[in-house]
Amino acid sequence: MPYGFETIIEPFRIKSVEPIRFTSRAQREVKLREAGYNVFGLRAEDVLIDLLTDSGTGAMSSAQWAGMMRGDESYAGSPSFFRFETAVRELTGFRHVIPTHQGRAAERILFGESVTRGDVVPNNTHFDTTRANVEHEGAEARDLVIAEGREPATIHPFKGNLDLDALERTLAEGARVPMVMVTVTNNSGGGQPVSMENLRGVRALCDRYDVPLFLDACRFAENSWFIKQREEGYGDRTPREIARDMFSLADGATFSAKKDGLANIGGFLAMNDDALGARCRANLILTEGFPTYGGLAGYDLEAIAVGLGEVLDEDYLRYRVRSVEYLWEKCTSVGVPCVSPPGGHAVYIDARALLPHIPAHQYPAWALCNELYLTGGIRGVEIGSVMFARVGTDGTEEPAPMELVRLAIPRRVYTQSHIDYVAEVVASIPPRAASIRGYRIVEQGPWLRHFTARLEQL
Ligand code: F0G
Repeated sequence: MPYGFETIIEPFRIKSVEPIRFTSRAQREVKLREAGYNVFGLRAEDVLIDLLTDSGTGAMSSAQWAGMMRGDESYAGSPSFFRFETAVRELTGFRHVIPTHQGRAAERILFGESVTRGDVVPNNTHFDTTRANVEHEGAEARDLVIAEGREPATIHPFKGNLDLDALERTLAEGARVPMVMVTVTNNSGGGQPVSMENLRGVRALCDRYDVPLFLDACRFAENSWFIKQREEGYGDRTPREIARDMFSLADGATFSAKKDGLANIGGFLAMNDDALGARCRANLILTEGFPTYGGLAGYDLEAIAVGLGEVLDEDYLRYRVRSVEYLWEKCTSVGVPCVSPPGGHAVYIDARALLPHIPAHQYPAWALCNELYLTGGIRGVEIGSVMFARVGTDGTEEPAPMELVRLAIPRRVYTQSHIDYVAEVVASIPPRAASIRGYRIVEQGPWLRHFTARLEQL
């Protein structure tokens, strides 16, 4: 620590504030019922502490706002684009940098141009939109995270690692594999990091089978920080050097700037392959916008260009990862089972362990998520069987591998007392866990049902 004291403080001060609104339990009961017992249906102003996502919810810095003021809104060839392109290229080294309005647009374009019906796309764990975009092309999204990555309580420094034997079996079995993806950090598996050694192993297999490797790089800076802390040989490297090493092992990346871009909107698709780059640009023009803005305003490109620098600051990353760990410590110390060790952007409560009386088909993580809102106005998100069960044609459901409630921490938004409050609300659950009831779905859509489903308490 620079001053010789232990407390890790927020490495910023607050220039602009936004009030949050308090509600009564009775009001929250009405709001949640009206929302179909789905926290995605709530109005944000009815939420006190919003931990639904760390995506697009961060606070921008004064330097980012200043950058936005010089945003150039030219349709073609804006200097804001070139600043964005330079920032992305210096970080990733990729030749083609294609701006998109957010991560899933990059996914749709990439898969649309390289995945066909019957293909298999391996990943450590596909996030919901990634899985849906692969499946939308008629391909199989195959999750190959190591066994430890599916066991909430098992401690492992890199629980996001891809199972190299399983990947080799997939590549050797003759399935058509248009690309291998690795998600850093592994969001659906608890925000867990992937080691450089594992990425090198994936690279070697991709070389052997001549398959391109793409990173889903949403949280590349948090992953770099974990590598610096935990992997032999990286303690003295800067997060930027580590990030560059990670990208250098891949042929391309999809990126949502709403996470480690420290921006409220934006993303990119980047790659080295010229022919694929040309196809993706053509697709972009058709659906997102001209290649020098890709569905974004010039000022968004500026915010991202600055954010990509700030997110690699060591004081920021130390605070970021520590603040998540702090909430995790408070939750686990009162006996709330969480995915361990804590991830980089969120605490994931293991609802299967906390609410063993609720079977998977009554959605224990959904129930816990709703209970946190009713109790304390906190909005988390279910990462369990509503989000990820496999629904058969006869309506039967194969449960998700884990039933988690994710409490995602927006970047640079909440202070330590907000987090202390969250911990107090979470701590109120275990003594009355047995009284919490499950849910059933009464209405759902064909894709990504968790966003719009309506449920009923049992
Ligand atoms: N990949 C990962 C690993 C993600 O976490 C997300 C978004 C995306 C891709 C898609 O990016 O939202 O910009 O289109 N995750 C958010 C979340 C929504 O809450 O974790 P997007």
